[in-house]
Amino acid sequence: MKILAIESSCDETSAAVVSGGNALSNIISSQHFHSKFGGVVPELASRAHLKAISYLIDESLDKAGLTMNDINALAVTSQPGLIGSLIVGSNFAKGLSLKYNLPIVPVNHIEGHIFSGNLQDSQLEFPYITLVVSGGHTAIFLVESYSEYTAMGLTKDDAAGEAFDKIAKLLGMPYPGGPHIDKNAKNGNPKAYNFPRSMMNSKDFNFSFSGIKTAIRYFIAKNFPDGIPDEVIPDLAASAQAAIVDVLVAKTVEAAAKTNVNHIVIAGGVSANSSLRSEMAAKASIEYINVIAPELQYCMDNAAMIGFIAEKKLEENDIKDYSDLTFRVNPNALRAKRK
Ligand code: KG4
Ligand code: ZN
Repeated sequence: MKILAIESSCDETSAAVVSGGNALSNIISSQHFHSKFGGVVPELASRAHLKAISYLIDESLDKAGLTMNDINALAVTSQPGLIGSLIVGSNFAKGLSLKYNLPIVPVNHIEGHIFSGNLQDSQLEFPYITLVVSGGHTAIFLVESYSEYTAMGLTKDDAAGEAFDKIAKLLGMPYPGGPHIDKNAKNGNPKAYNFPRSMMNSKDFNFSFSGIKTAIRYFIAKNFPDGIPDEVIPDLAASAQAAIVDVLVAKTVEAAAKTNVNHIVIAGGVSANSSLRSEMAAKASIEYINVIAPELQYCMDNAAMIGFIAEKKLEENDIKDYSDLTFRVNPNALRAKRK
């Protein structure tokens, strides 16, 4: 089976060909121009997807050495995400489906991230814990099979990536700020400033990241009213990063220990963070838990992860279940209920 997958839920346009659990190609185009607006502008994102999508599909087929006539099914992200961006990908897939008479598997983007550990490592066995941590989502899942997974914890407000980006903005760094915080933190002291570890002792697996951004904003206003001196930026970056990473690591390792699983997968754009990778591996190893951090192309938003889970769904269900072209996109992200 050869699946052509499309991902366009936020500011990455991506097309991939997946077959037998492997990505034969995974072409990703990031919309860097949002940087000058300080965040993703939804209308511009949709237009950029529209411009890029057919070229990326051609490139992904070329790279896989295939043509549309070799493709057996389509997969596309249908939720959650920016509604205009989701519509571009799903309507393009519907057009291809009509032209080439192909079934379409609509895929939940979070499921793509959840199973990206299996795409990376074909030996990975269930059950395991996945921490999905990106600009839009922060959640801990207990994953028991390709069709059974449970959200053990979710963010109540901002996603961890959103917190990285907002803190980076306060420190004068460009969008998206996560990678800039990571880079600056390498030269800083994570214990220089003690920023809040929200919900660290909440006795559940939920998160809250809106408080840390506010705490840092007040800290800067009080201590650096005339502007932040360049020499304290690395310490501020390292201390902010440590506050976010500590909570992510503690709760994920605790979730794995509580459910007696031996593997943790970290996925989503923030899983590129060097401190999150090293701290997670260090803390998990104390509990004899192994950490799988997929390579960057499978961590960030990408179509290979969408095609991968679509192929599993096609294996487990009747292909006729995927002939419905009336499926709709849904923008809503997973959030824990506020008390
Ligand atoms: O998964 P992704 O590409 O897109 C979605 O949000 O779905 O994740 C992007 C997020 C941004 O918030 C970005 O700042 C963050 O991932 N990010 C990082 C790093 N690389 C990307 N955050 C911290 N450290 C990094 N090295
Ligand atoms: Zn994502």
